[in-house]
Amino acid sequence: MCGIFGYAGPEARAEVLIEGIKRLEYRGYDSWGLCLAAEDRLFLVRRVGRIGAVDGSPVNPPSAMQNPPSAMQNPPPAMQSGIAHTRWATHGAPTEANAHPHADCAGRIAVIHNGIIENHAALRASLQSKGHHFTSETDTEVIPHLIEELLKTEPDFPAAFLAAMKLLVGAYGIAALWAESPDTVYVARHGSPIVLGVAKNSTLVASDPAALVTHTRDVIYLDDGEAAILHPDGFETRTLEGAPVSKQVQQVAFSLQDIERGGFPHFMLKEIAEQPESIRNALRGRIVRSEGTAKLGGVEEDLLRKARRCHIVASGTSWNAGLVGKYLLENLARIPTQVSFGAEFRYGDPVLEPDTLVIAVSQSGETADTLAAVREAKLIGAETIGICNVFGSSIARECGKGIYIHAGPEIGVASTKAFTSQLVVLSLLAVHMGRMRGMSLRAGLLFLDALERLPAQAEQIVREKEKVAQIARKYASCRDFLFVGRLYEYPTALEGALKLKEISYIHAEGVQAAEMKHGPIALIEPGVPTVVLAAQAEIRDKMLGNTHEILARSGKVIAVAREGDEEMAKLAHDTIFIPKTLDPLVPILSVIPLQLLAYFVAVERGCDVDKPRNLAKSVTVE
Ligand code: F6R
Repeated sequence: MCGIFGYAGPEARAEVLIEGIKRLEYRGYDSWGLCLAAEDRLFLVRRVGRIGAVDGSPVNPPSAMQNPPSAMQNPPPAMQSGIAHTRWATHGAPTEANAHPHADCAGRIAVIHNGIIENHAALRASLQSKGHHFTSETDTEVIPHLIEELLKTEPDFPAAFLAAMKLLVGAYGIAALWAESPDTVYVARHGSPIVLGVAKNSTLVASDPAALVTHTRDVIYLDDGEAAILHPDGFETRTLEGAPVSKQVQQVAFSLQDIERGGFPHFMLKEIAEQPESIRNALRGRIVRSEGTAKLGGVEEDLLRKARRCHIVASGTSWNAGLVGKYLLENLARIPTQVSFGAEFRYGDPVLEPDTLVIAVSQSGETADTLAAVREAKLIGAETIGICNVFGSSIARECGKGIYIHAGPEIGVASTKAFTSQLVVLSLLAVHMGRMRGMSLRAGLLFLDALERLPAQAEQIVREKEKVAQIARKYASCRDFLFVGRLYEYPTALEGALKLKEISYIHAEGVQAAEMKHGPIALIEPGVPTVVLAAQAEIRDKMLGNTHEILARSGKVIAVAREGDEEMAKLAHDTIFIPKTLDPLVPILSVIPLQLLAYFVAVERGCDVDKPRNLAKSVTVE
């Protein structure tokens, strides 16, 4: 969602701040802004649209804050600190006035914020009654005014800053500047991610370590209820009550090269192509051949052994992965498993029986609904484990136990490699829990063998991407698509439809194949292609039946079939073959052509693949 970057040190320049927030672009945004501090003054820029693409110049010269109006007349030669923000509108339209940073009445305090202040209306009314003048519709603007008000009674700025934080209800990651301490950045976290970076002559803050890696790999993750004061030569961390806390410096595992496009036209294509490697990484060191099982270091054996039910919570693509997880856990481990959307779990009335294991699946580890579901599950008394990609993310830490998918940074807004890595980890979990519950050594070994073949098989699919590109060009002008599948391929159908709609804006539906005749078949006509997922051996004949039904109604069929299925290829208008694997692992392979199809259709339609409209990479608000 919104992105935060802050810097205290000798390189406090607009370019440095802009480079920082550009690394957060993938989170989605509609406006941006920055503020620099030097010699007792603040300098502010706020813009709508693309970062740095303002007035044809990459960096817009900082214009002065309205108070004091003369600030830009003699800008100091060097700035001492700065904060920058990418906004994804929640309260108030994406306008310059609503973009962050926001300032107090005197223009002495500037604040950027991620999250939502739930009591902003009450705070605003109270501050207005004390004479504060607001210039935006945002919830964030109450923060600088609140600090300004509290400065009248608190002994110093840090005390006023902390006192203000304690009055905020909701979720926030905040960074602030105060004109009178121009080399200092003030930071606080409650419910939105904040990570500090420690470099040689500077200290940094961001909402995602991806923004820090050009400066440092040494990072500190703030926990909820913590604050920090950053100086060029170091930082202090405190609780919101003001008590000092000591934090551990950790190393960010990925490099700058990892988050750059590496010659691909889009992050999405790069990430699709990375899947042979990311699948390999998800498997690495986790297969125990001698016992026909998996080793999952982050979760105690006992926890998995005693679970009698599983409840998976997730959102979006991760929910689709969770649905495959349900089939895997029920099929391989015979554990009754339910899958809930994070938001439904949170506001529904989930029945968690004793010994239910709640499994949160989230690429970012920051999805607000999934995080809230984890908190709710813990409150009810359930054990929780996380299946996350981002190390040290909120869900990973909230769960305390879990399995990282090790997919590497996923920058494209549409999730691709994280999905297949989530499926690999869920497969490992299922085989491990299965072996604890009577699955035979032979069956375990067969499954592990099939898992180990996946990277090479994924490689084969990616190599043949031009074939998918040709099919994509053929159908790119269609207005509707259907994706049909059964069992393990039903979630794949949902995921294929989700990928297509989010990046190409074509209406697409994922349908359980047997449900076609209960309604969706009415949509079939020559201009509505159906992607038929027919690669599972067990139900392949049923998918052949579906294909006949569609063809009989003059529908076009694009089949994803097991290699060698010539009968299917003869029937379908277009066929994409995938290598043979066990049915439970089919989605890991069959989703790759669907990702490619969505990608090439979107490119053909001229869509902004990596930053689709209205979407954010990490949905940290409800
Ligand atoms: C779709 C997509 C979203 C996310 C969803 C959950 O391509 O990326 O649907 O899957 O917002 O995000 P995470 O997995 O970060 O919890």
